[in-house]
Amino acid sequence: MIQFILNNKKIKTNKSASTILLDFIREDQHLQGTKSGCREGDCGACTVLVGSLVKNKTEYKSMASCLTPLGNIAGKHVVTVEGLNNKNGLTPVQHALDEHAGTQCGFCTPGFVVSLTGHALSKNFAKYDEAINSVAGNICRCTGYKSIERAVKDIADGLKNKSENSLDWLIEHKYLPDYFSDIANQLAEIKSSEITEGKIIIGGGSDLYVRKADETSDTDATFYLNRQELKEIKEENGYIKSGASITANEIMHSEIFNKYFPKIQQWFKLISSEQIRNMGTIAGNFVNASPIGDLSIFFLALNSELVIKNEEGNTRTTALNKFFRGYKTTDLKEGEHIEEIWFKIPDNNFRFNFEKVSKRTYLDIASVNSAVSYTLEKNIFKEIHISAGGIAPIPKYFEQTRKYLSGKELNKENIKTASDILLSEVSPISDIRGSKEYKSLLLKQLFFVHFELTNEN
Ligand SMILES: Cc1cc2nc3c(=O)[nH]c(=O)nc-3n(C[C@H](O)[C@H](O)[C@H](O)COP(=O)(O)OP(=O)(O)OC[C@H]3O[C@@H](n4cnc5c(N)ncnc54)[C@H](O)[C@@H]3O)c2cc1C
Ligand code: FES
Ligand code: FES
Repeated sequence: MIQFILNNKKIKTNKSASTILLDFIREDQHLQGTKSGCREGDCGACTVLVGSLVKNKTEYKSMASCLTPLGNIAGKHVVTVEGLNNKNGLTPVQHALDEHAGTQCGFCTPGFVVSLTGHALSKNFAKYDEAINSVAGNICRCTGYKSIERAVKDIADGLKNKSENSLDWLIEHKYLPDYFSDIANQLAEIKSSEITEGKIIIGGGSDLYVRKADETSDTDATFYLNRQELKEIKEENGYIKSGASITANEIMHSEIFNKYFPKIQQWFKLISSEQIRNMGTIAGNFVNASPIGDLSIFFLALNSELVIKNEEGNTRTTALNKFFRGYKTTDLKEGEHIEEIWFKIPDNNFRFNFEKVSKRTYLDIASVNSAVSYTLEKNIFKEIHISAGGIAPIPKYFEQTRKYLSGKELNKENIKTASDILLSEVSPISDIRGSKEYKSLLLKQLFFVHFELTNEN
């Protein structure tokens, strides 16, 4: 039996834990405000907030309910647009959208209202850019976006005076209804849900439910997204270690990653959308083995290692650059799962860069993405690791280029020769993301950009 709170109502259900939350909300609970649009995580019409109890307080994240199984919201507070409605008129978010004509046919509006309320609950509430970013995963076919942008500006301005005690302030100023004040107590009382463990592993579900929604929602699964033992990021014995179920947003906001990678916010904003970054895990990105997986490319360039556990509880370690075996195939054996990923703590001479080029800046997958990490001693490469996606059947680690550059000076001539070796290591194919010639050129240009050089004489 799965227990959770849906708006202001306690739910106990015997439905399969793999059931899609959107279907449960609309079909079982008859809450039709949450819309079913693309069912692929792309439009944001199905956005809900998912609240968890953290140190006796609730923390909310937006998620795409079309890709979320009930198993991932057990013991949580799920908020749909109906759960935000005030008895006495519109919330400030609803009012701003109405005032600026940010709603026409209204199909997308519940998604925008929920995402922007999620933003109001976040720590970056008064920044316009962050408010805009919170709706990067919401699509509107009618308004042309300018009216929505004006509404978002009003919302960000209105939040400038929000106090630290965010929940009380938001309730007092009618962003949230009164019942939110008691949710933390109610979540503390929910007994842990009993979920049968099944054959397949589901992380955030943002890959599985896109590729095989019907099959996945009919199968018994084991749910990894909220497993506490897979949720830690730590510095230990000279390594940075991340649990397999850490999400892209958890990396992006982690103190440790921000300390060593000051540009991480800028890079990770290019990965999917707020909703999907709140769901997509590191392990899910590796195991789906997409040749353009952004997290795969990021961690490959850090020369990362994976800790893999089998059903008997035995662990083995493997280099991430040996994990990808062929198109969408990995080294993972039956009964194994990924526990952890780690890489060496960068030293003072360490440099890292990540680049992603896609047709749209936000909420798009890469045409080509690439990352590099290196350390220099007197301008000589002591260590270097290079990766790129979109140019081979697997997320590519460049072994020959690494060998060539190790011990060489960082200068334009060596990078030029290295770029020829780099291209000889791959054979891109033409597809909807670009011709093979375009991808080769892009790869070469990104390689030069990593070293702040240009590919010109
Ligand atoms: C709209 C949209 C946009 C996207 N944009 C991007 C993007 O810009 N860049 C990008 O890289 N990806 C993108 N993705 C893909 C996806 O979000 C990521 O690959 C994500 O990291 C997948 O993680 P997950 O936990 O949701 O995977 P899931 O769907 O839960 O699982 C994927 C696979 O991993 C397996 N798995 C999960 N955890 C483990 C574990 N611990 N051990 C062993 N196996 C495991 C599952 O069994 C499954 O086979 C996007 C997806 C959507 C829907
Ligand atoms: S229905 Fe489009 S994101 Fe869920
Ligand atoms: S108002 Fe019609 S889709 Fe946004």
